[in-house]
Amino acid sequence: MNRPSRLPSCERVLYGADYNPDQWLGEDAVLREDIALMRKAGVTSASIGIFAWTALEPSPGVYTFQWLDETMERFAKAGLSVFLAPPSASKPMWLSELHPEIRRVGRDGRREPSGGRHNHCPTSPVYRAAVARINRELAARYGKHPALALWHVGNELNGECHCDLCINAFRDWLKRRHGSLADLNRAWWTSFWNHTFTDWSQIPSHDPSNDGLTMDWLRFVNDQHVSFLENEMAPLRELSPGVPRTTNFMGTNRGTNYWQWSRSLDCISNDIYPLHDDRADSWRKALGSDFIHSLMRGLAGGGPWLLMECSPSAVNWHKINKLKRPGVHLQEVLQAVANGADAIHYFQWRKGLGGHEKFHGAVIDHAGGSDSRVFRECAEVGRVLQTLAPVAGLAPERAPVAIVYDWEARWALDASAGPKKAADGDRYTETCLEHFRALRCAGLEVDLISADADFSAYRVVVTPALYALPATTARRLSAFAAAGGGWVATYLTGYVDEHNRCWRGGFPGPELRAVFGLWNEEVDYLFDDEKVRVEGALFDSAGGTFATDIVERLHAEGAETLATVASEFYAGSPVLLRNNWELGDTFYLGARLAEEGCIAFYEYLAGELDLPRLVLPRGVVRKSRVGADGPIEFLFNYTREEVAVDLGEERFHRLADGQTCRGKTTLRPYDSLLKGVLPACVFPLAPHDPHPTRHEPQASALPR
Ligand code: GAL
Repeated sequence: MNRPSRLPSCERVLYGADYNPDQWLGEDAVLREDIALMRKAGVTSASIGIFAWTALEPSPGVYTFQWLDETMERFAKAGLSVFLAPPSASKPMWLSELHPEIRRVGRDGRREPSGGRHNHCPTSPVYRAAVARINRELAARYGKHPALALWHVGNELNGECHCDLCINAFRDWLKRRHGSLADLNRAWWTSFWNHTFTDWSQIPSHDPSNDGLTMDWLRFVNDQHVSFLENEMAPLRELSPGVPRTTNFMGTNRGTNYWQWSRSLDCISNDIYPLHDDRADSWRKALGSDFIHSLMRGLAGGGPWLLMECSPSAVNWHKINKLKRPGVHLQEVLQAVANGADAIHYFQWRKGLGGHEKFHGAVIDHAGGSDSRVFRECAEVGRVLQTLAPVAGLAPERAPVAIVYDWEARWALDASAGPKKAADGDRYTETCLEHFRALRCAGLEVDLISADADFSAYRVVVTPALYALPATTARRLSAFAAAGGGWVATYLTGYVDEHNRCWRGGFPGPELRAVFGLWNEEVDYLFDDEKVRVEGALFDSAGGTFATDIVERLHAEGAETLATVASEFYAGSPVLLRNNWELGDTFYLGARLAEEGCIAFYEYLAGELDLPRLVLPRGVVRKSRVGADGPIEFLFNYTREEVAVDLGEERFHRLADGQTCRGKTTLRPYDSLLKGVLPACVFPLAPHDPHPTRHEPQASALPR
């Protein structure tokens, strides 16, 4: 698989923001102040032009590049770099009114009015041509400009359109995929409820009762976005070949199989907005961000990537938009760097005076100038990132364990009626995240990889809820275990094939009963307040454990039983099993275990397979990026409480006050420590909360 690895050339971690000079045209004092303040804040770069199409082309074929010429020059003169954004993320009003076909149509068949953003039809030849035209103009004019460091193509490309163009393109796509209607009908099991198609023209874009159709529609929409992106990048490739291209991802966004997208890009970039809720389990949420960062690392082939958007303070789209507590912002930034980010960019540089995001956090507030808490904090971050220059380009440390994150399995599970949905509807990602957190709490480092990755680079591969399991993937995973690897599978493994049709011959399919030494006969879905007791020696130290939501009725067929169900009518049936598979080991966990139980399992696994691990107090995390001169290490306290650690002879530097720490050390709430480089600044921390509260475990949503 092609791995994206061309980053903007720079000898340091880049630092900047989305910048909208097009909202301030004619306000020269503001535009001049922007540059002065960027320099003061230690900014290196900015994304420009994301929503600026009309400012660049106010009517068809009439271009007004002067403001962008001036901006590029101002940046070049100040030694700042530009991530230039072709403006396809928001359609010009004139184009949208002239060609209504570029506007999306909803499932209900209704075309949207002009306005909004991220809402073009991905199929429309008119829109594709218009985008290619403006991009050609931009590439010809700025493609070799000294300030240009990166093409930031589009913005958070996503969503779907149900217009006739899309539906017809879908039918053509289906013809290519299935060949004949007979094969399509077989793949989708359409004799169910009399859904057999007798002509291609009968196939709709949406029918929730046809889960094979849903899978293919999601695949098609994903492909349309990728081909839209390819069309958009063609002129940039041709006229500006020396400048890398990216588009900003949205973590685990549902409709976008980013493994596929990554093949079209030179580097990976992501947007993340962790919800800061100081009342709750902040460390679990921070591990949720680590999960997303690990996915980006995986998409970047294990190398560095770019954090393209995060907020310097609060967002404006939660119900309650909290300010980040002291230390949290710096920690979020360093957490991304520790996970491989070679750029930290904010949304947004300056708050606009009007529009939907006028209250969204920004480096520069409506008050203007640098006399604000947020500006000072951002300038401190700028100095820290300058200190961290040696980190740029270094790969994050490789983990011994990998989790497979697979959009196809997620789509299949989402589309199937029956399996109990998670609170946010996304059972698949929830399971991946829970296993990621449990592994990390057990002291194991984890990478995220695709289902077609090279498993042999890992000691253990975990495939949480790999519900859709094509035979080829099953064979590759079995071969990995047979060659001596450890394969951990969980509930909801191997129920269906790539068409969302159930495997015959008993779960887990395909033919994995022998590999796991068990048969999954049926599954009990529990009420929200129900718990089923689980017993096994390996849970004794955790004080026993229990399962919620999902319990499979497993039968050992040669595997060793490690734990059994201890309540319910099926008490005594095995729920955690281990099997020797040639040179390796397979493990099957048939229930959604409570967090402590899941951690106990991974502690057992680490012991049995002799995996390297580092056990730290809950919520304390250590990560490193490794260079020729040794590692640069990060130590974080993700909790809002003080935590005692023993650093032994190692010397870390605390960012909050520049102190050197070694031996027995008390980490402050949201503390960040560095080893291997000297931090350049001291952060003024607010006084500690003298009465930190303890919090009960609760389900944690992933940051958007
Ligand atoms: C992102 C988007 C930005 C801005 C930001 C606000 O999803 O790309 O343009 O809207 O959210 O948090």
